[in-house]
Amino acid sequence: MIYICCLVNFKKKMGKSVQGFSKLTKLEKIDWLIKTFFNSDENIKSTLKQYWNSNKVLQNLHDDFIENTISNFYIPFAIAPNFLINEKEFTIPMAIEESSVVAAASLVAKFWRTRGGFKAKVISSTKIGQVHFMYEGDKQKLYDYFSIKKEALLAATKDITKNMQKRGGGILDIALRDKTEDLKNYYQLHVTFETADSMGANFINSCLEAIAKAFEKEDIQIVMSILSNYVPECLVHAEVSCNVEDLYAENSKELAEKFVQAIQIANAEPHRAVTHNKGIMNGIDAVVLATGNDFRAIEAGAHAYAARSGKYKSLTNAKIENGIFKFWIEIPLALGTVGGLTKLHPLSKLSLNLLGNPSAKELMEIIAVAGLAQNFAALRALTTTGIQKGHMKMHLTNIIKQLGASDEEKNFLIDYFEHKTVTHNAVVEAYNKLVKDK
Ligand code: MEV
Repeated sequence: MIYICCLVNFKKKMGKSVQGFSKLTKLEKIDWLIKTFFNSDENIKSTLKQYWNSNKVLQNLHDDFIENTISNFYIPFAIAPNFLINEKEFTIPMAIEESSVVAAASLVAKFWRTRGGFKAKVISSTKIGQVHFMYEGDKQKLYDYFSIKKEALLAATKDITKNMQKRGGGILDIALRDKTEDLKNYYQLHVTFETADSMGANFINSCLEAIAKAFEKEDIQIVMSILSNYVPECLVHAEVSCNVEDLYAENSKELAEKFVQAIQIANAEPHRAVTHNKGIMNGIDAVVLATGNDFRAIEAGAHAYAARSGKYKSLTNAKIENGIFKFWIEIPLALGTVGGLTKLHPLSKLSLNLLGNPSAKELMEIIAVAGLAQNFAALRALTTTGIQKGHMKMHLTNIIKQLGASDEEKNFLIDYFEHKTVTHNAVVEAYNKLVKDK
């Protein structure tokens, strides 16, 4: 009996597998999809097709970013104006689906604009790649071999590093690291790079593979060669400061202290720190995405940095000293303004253009500011009115839209909920009553 059930399940599963899928045309892929998963429902095809771009060249460009593309997945692309960073004006592009992020960025930009704006500075800009290998022999012999071989390892990357060196980048150092205390027979070549205006992933990985090839011998077993997304030496600092009295309209000293306590709590309690940093990443990811950078790399590196002391903590900090409130962020950001998708995706290109075609270092500063601004908005709301007031306002408009309300009905509902608690049910009820009473 069990055997028959398994066989039926197996057949069901097999019915949904497919061979040579990547070779099918886009329409054939969609046909397979709707036949296999949606009971041949043609509405699914229309849903997918309505997001196709009518410009075939543009659509092809997007299709080719990845495999098996069947449509485009839109997320809003917005701008947050009025940022003053290092005395320069910026309108920051953001690609994000979360309703309150851009509004918060815009409000905070305006707020700090009248208080001296943001100051930002890149602390360091080096990146890391590693060749991981196993070696069972005599340690000293390995170190001797590395010393003799080091120049040849650098020479093995000459063709790859030539252009990068012209742009001010290249390999800064190769070190042999003994990791046998962490894992038996495990060593690595720890390579430090400067990649100028490119994020450098392809450059780093190509160099590492060339180094590994030149280093390999019978008793050295290369396991893998790959860049690290942990980049604590690709670090940027951004800050704001003002007189404590200028921070809030009323009770400024008490509220500023509460703001500082909110950060102390994040530093003391990882559950809070994760949410605190998530809010920072709302701002960071949105700009990273809009500028065609790799937000997963940024996320991974930022959270690892937040845990560098062995405890997961806040990426931001604040203090009050001699009547001055100071709030800052320090975050690793490995970004590029050339290469990858940055100039290939028309909207990334536009975003970089909007930012004045910054260098990678300038982009690090702008993006750190976007994160700091987001955290400022969140902590300010959390320690005063609570976060739901602003969130629910945006949520309310989304629910109203989903209900298909007219402009007149929308305005009525916004007024109606001005001083009431917004819940999905409450909005639906109010809307239904409004329609019924008409
Ligand atoms: C929501 O996306 C982000 C916040 O939860 C951040 C925070 O709590 O600091 C509001």
